Amino acid sequence: MPSLLVCSLILTMSSLFLRSAADDPLHSKCNNDRNYTNNSTYQANLGRLISSLSLSAPATGFANGTAGEVPDRVYGLAICRGDVSDTRCRECLAGVPRDAAAGCPGNKAATVFYELCHLRYSDQDFFGSSTGAEYLKWNRGNVSDVPTFDRLLGELLDNLTIRAASSERRFAAGSVDFTNYEKVYALVQCTRDLAAERCDVCLRNEINYIPECCEAKKGARVIGGSCYLRYEVYPFFNISAATDPPPPRPPPPVLRHTSPPPAGTPAAGGKG
Ligand SMILES: *[C@@H]1O[C@H](CO)[C@@H](O)[C@H](O)[C@H]1NC(C)=O
Ligand SMILES: *[C@@H]1O[C@H](CO)[C@@H](O)[C@H](O)[C@H]1NC(C)=O
Ligand SMILES: *[C@@H]1O[C@H](CO)[C@@H](O)[C@H](O)[C@H]1NC(C)=O
Ligand SMILES: *[C@@H]1O[C@H](CO)[C@@H](O)[C@H](O)[C@H]1NC(C)=O
Ligand SMILES: *[C@@H]1O[C@H](CO)[C@@H](O)[C@H](O)[C@H]1NC(C)=O
Ligand SMILES: *[C@@H]1O[C@H](CO)[C@@H](O)[C@H](O)[C@H]1NC(C)=O
Ligand SMILES: *[C@@H]1O[C@H](CO)[C@@H](O)[C@H](O)[C@H]1NC(C)=O
Repeated sequence: MPSLLVCSLILTMSSLFLRSAADDPLHSKCNNDRNYTNNSTYQANLGRLISSLSLSAPATGFANGTAGEVPDRVYGLAICRGDVSDTRCRECLAGVPRDAAAGCPGNKAATVFYELCHLRYSDQDFFGSSTGAEYLKWNRGNVSDVPTFDRLLGELLDNLTIRAASSERRFAAGSVDFTNYEKVYALVQCTRDLAAERCDVCLRNEINYIPECCEAKKGARVIGGSCYLRYEVYPFFNISAATDPPPPRPPPPVLRHTSPPPAGTPAAGGKG
């Protein structure tokens, strides 16, 4: 019996460790302007909303909803990356109550970002309107042929943006041959409360950060409460869960290098 107990303790501890290693938040975007108090109606509504979104989102990868009545109504959404299974989605969202309390204690509005999901809540109705980029993270490695890389990446992101904005799931992922032995992989996604045009604008705004933060980098993430983009020179997403054929499209533009810094100052996460 004792050895069984020790064994299960070790298993429990290692699964806790593995869980937290995989699903630590990337970033918590707080709003310190408006706080709720302990044991308030708002806090109870928030707790209910987080658990109901975490339960309903995994089935389709997205859920939005509200809990309670004005002035204590909470608006929220939960989203998982489009290539992620419902099980993985559920696991990812499971940390939200703990991580929101630790990262943005008492805040009426916040977003907790993870690698594979995020959950956003607010006392204000934000459905259908988009945030700017809120978190940047990049790969330290440099690419060899920058002009070619930028042209191909620009084309790929443009193609994916068009596909994502016009798709039901607001999601697209794909790759392009860079050198004979290297591909560039990219994934873009919007929250499904955004209309197609808003999704397009949100992603193009994020694409415009790339020359500022991540020029010549082998990978980057530009993440906001309403849309997400990432690219790498290795397959970082589940390709079989992410493929569908691209629609016809007009000739693509190239990534801008001389654009002014975009509005807003997202947190920089550095090396990824
Ligand atoms: C809300 O709470 C945060 C964290 O405890 C604190 O930093 C902030 O000043 C508070 N804001 C207001 C308006 O009380
Ligand atoms: C909240 O409720 C707990 C237990 O019900 C109590 O111990 C705590 O003092 C309350 N906090 C506030 C700020 O009312
Ligand atoms: C609310 O409760 C938490 C623990 O449950 C405590 O850490 C925090 O200080 C409390 N905040 C206020 C404003 O009482
Ligand atoms: C990439 O390029 C930057 C700027 O030229 C340089 O500072 C950095 O050390 C390079 N990184 C690697 C991993 O070579
Ligand atoms: C973008 O889409 C066009 C038209 O479907 C295609 O010809 C082109 O190869 C694509 N480019 C990339 C980089 O995906
Ligand atoms: C989800 O967001 C849309 C706006 O995009 C809104 O019309 C809808 O009412 C929201 N759903 C819920 C359950 O609040
Ligand atoms: C990738 O997605 C496919 C199709 O959804 C699924 O069958 C497979 O298990 C996934 N692979 C991984 C490693 O998650």
